[in-house]
Amino acid sequence: MNTRELQDRIIELKKKKDVCILAHAYQSHAIWEIADYTGDSFGLSQKAAETTAKTVIMCGVRFMAETVKTLNPDKKVILANPEADCPMARQFDLADVNYFKQQNPDAAVCAYINTTADLKRSVDIVVTSSSAVTILRKIPEQKILFIPDRNLGAYVAAQIPEKEFIYVQGGCPTHQRVKASMSKSVLEAHPSALLLAHPECLPEITAMADYVGSTTGIIDYAVNSSEKEFIIGTESSIVEHLQFMCPEKKFYALHKDLVCHNMRLTTLGDIYNCLLDNGGEEITLPEQVRLESLKPIQRMIALG
Ligand code: 13P
Ligand code: SF4
Repeated sequence: MNTRELQDRIIELKKKKDVCILAHAYQSHAIWEIADYTGDSFGLSQKAAETTAKTVIMCGVRFMAETVKTLNPDKKVILANPEADCPMARQFDLADVNYFKQQNPDAAVCAYINTTADLKRSVDIVVTSSSAVTILRKIPEQKILFIPDRNLGAYVAAQIPEKEFIYVQGGCPTHQRVKASMSKSVLEAHPSALLLAHPECLPEITAMADYVGSTTGIIDYAVNSSEKEFIIGTESSIVEHLQFMCPEKKFYALHKDLVCHNMRLTTLGDIYNCLLDNGGEEITLPEQVRLESLKPIQRMIALG
């Protein structure tokens, strides 16, 4: 089968079996073409809460499939590639959060959505990169313990100077490996290009950026801009997607190492096998974990 034939089989099977395919923006172009929805973590959570399909296949990483399951206990939720996990989501666990809470009893605990369902049981609110500023501005608490991405936390804190933030030392290995010195050659080669960066990048990168936002935010900014050249400071799949969406514009990766190997794992073959009940992993959560992690996720959807 060639790519087109495989895509046609997937589309046929998903309709027949009442399956909704959700794909994070970092998935390949071939996966975008067969997905029912593509977008950032916040958009995926919204779609997960809305879908009426019996089964959801998540093309992304494990915490995203867990969020879908938390919101849809009666649906079958399948992670298309069971190996696809976000390393940042493994940096802290429930015991760590409980310890941080003991140390900061007067702070609201805010978890980035890139955390396990188990960790979310003990937090007050969940945020995504696109919703964090809006949500944390709205909550009544003045002191916020932000887990686990220090770069995102610092970026959000700078937008909400009236609140006090406490951080832990976590972060995305993909985004934080790129230092300003490593991007010098790209920036110098394209002096008129706008730099669009994800808030998981180091502060020295976001400080130089013309726009800072989520994956969907970056895409929308580039599509709607009248400028013609952009340097993309997030996973390099976004460069490819933008090049398809705007062939008349030029897009460059901020650095060649902006690659998330976990997000790149899922293939069309994985999705096809899920549809044949011959692959993927069905996500299950103990009901107590689901109910406890649901509360901060619902608060995010309501406030975001
Ligand atoms: P978004 O919220 O922009 O989708 O980011 C999720 C992520 O994993 C980025 O690395
Ligand atoms: Fe996790 Fe970073 Fe990959 Fe996003 S890009 S899934 S935060 S490792």
